[in-house]
Amino acid sequence: MGSTQSISRWASVLLLLCLGLAQAHTVITYPGYRGNNLYTNGTIAQANGLGVGYDAKNGSLIYPYGMQWIYPCGGMGRSTNRTKWPVSGGALAFQPGWFPGHGTALIYVNLGFGEIPDNMSHSVVPPFQLVGPTNNPYPGTVCLPQVPLPVNVTVSPGDYATIQVVEVAKHGASLYNCVDIEFAEDGDASVEAVTRDNCFNSSSLKFEYMYTTSSIGSGAAMLHPKLSAAAVVPLLLAVALGVYM
Ligand SMILES: *[C@@H]1O[C@H](CO)[C@@H](O)[C@H](O)[C@H]1NC(C)=O
Ligand SMILES: *[C@@H]1O[C@H](CO)[C@@H](O)[C@H](O)[C@H]1NC(C)=O
Ligand SMILES: *[C@@H]1O[C@H](CO)[C@@H](O)[C@H](O)[C@H]1NC(C)=O
Ligand SMILES: *[C@@H]1O[C@H](CO)[C@@H](O)[C@H](O)[C@H]1NC(C)=O
Ligand SMILES: *[C@@H]1O[C@H](CO)[C@@H](O)[C@H](O)[C@H]1NC(C)=O
Ligand SMILES: *[C@@H]1O[C@H](CO)[C@@H](O)[C@H](O)[C@H]1NC(C)=O
Repeated sequence: MGSTQSISRWASVLLLLCLGLAQAHTVITYPGYRGNNLYTNGTIAQANGLGVGYDAKNGSLIYPYGMQWIYPCGGMGRSTNRTKWPVSGGALAFQPGWFPGHGTALIYVNLGFGEIPDNMSHSVVPPFQLVGPTNNPYPGTVCLPQVPLPVNVTVSPGDYATIQVVEVAKHGASLYNCVDIEFAEDGDASVEAVTRDNCFNSSSLKFEYMYTTSSIGSGAAMLHPKLSAAAVVPLLLAVALGVYM
């Protein structure tokens, strides 16, 4: 059942790709998503260079770069078909590779609370880097089996929230995708069971931690990380001379 569903979702995404309708991005496969936002339409000129424009002729929005670039939920508004998710947190699975340029990507997962969240500022997993098999679109699924709630946040069954998945592409711009949830008691039968079919890590995907080190100190060193200290000194001297000459 679970695998049949995920296969049919793959098939529909593949179909979209083949039809050229999608420059696909992320798809949240568990616990679901607001809807298919793998659309690109209108032209950049028509939108006057904006990420989202308005087609006055038929009174509808256009997304010349693709819907998923639009903060906070990839151009999708609040949905009414919420998925149940446990009050202590639960699983999240998504397919990150439906787009060229994601040979590596940073992944963030955030929560927003309420029916229409005021913000998506509650980060719930440490951001991590994905290393995909290629810079071209690739299949593959990421499964985070136990995404917790933010520290010091407690919710009750029946409360609403939205899970946001952010994928930062190599050039720094971000793709957004969301699923609206309703909290249920842990172990509630209305929460879709997490199985090896609907939540798994593909072996083609690798993960790297992101971490901080002590500060770099000088802007010159940060912009030219490969320069040795010996090379930085003349550079700084040149800057200083430039000021005085
Ligand atoms: C909600 O409905 C949309 C539109 O029918 C559908 O694409 C999406 O998968 C549904 N999401 C959930 C979580 O059921
Ligand atoms: C809006 O108009 C464009 C052409 O101007 C057309 O391609 C598109 O299908 C129309 N969309 C809707 C929702 O009617
Ligand atoms: C562009 O695509 C979005 C998402 O499918 C749709 O809502 C909108 O009507 C489309 N715009 C036009 C002008 O067709
Ligand atoms: C985000 O919204 C929550 C309510 O869900 C609120 O408590 C919090 O202060 C907001 N955070 C920011 C940074 O606006
Ligand atoms: C998938 O990989 C992530 C990152 O290493 C890890 O946190 C998660 O537990 C893995 N999922 C499964 C189902 O093993
Ligand atoms: C959580 O609450 C405890 C007790 O009130 C407090 O000491 C701690 O700083 C809080 N942690 C965060 C991350 O807000």
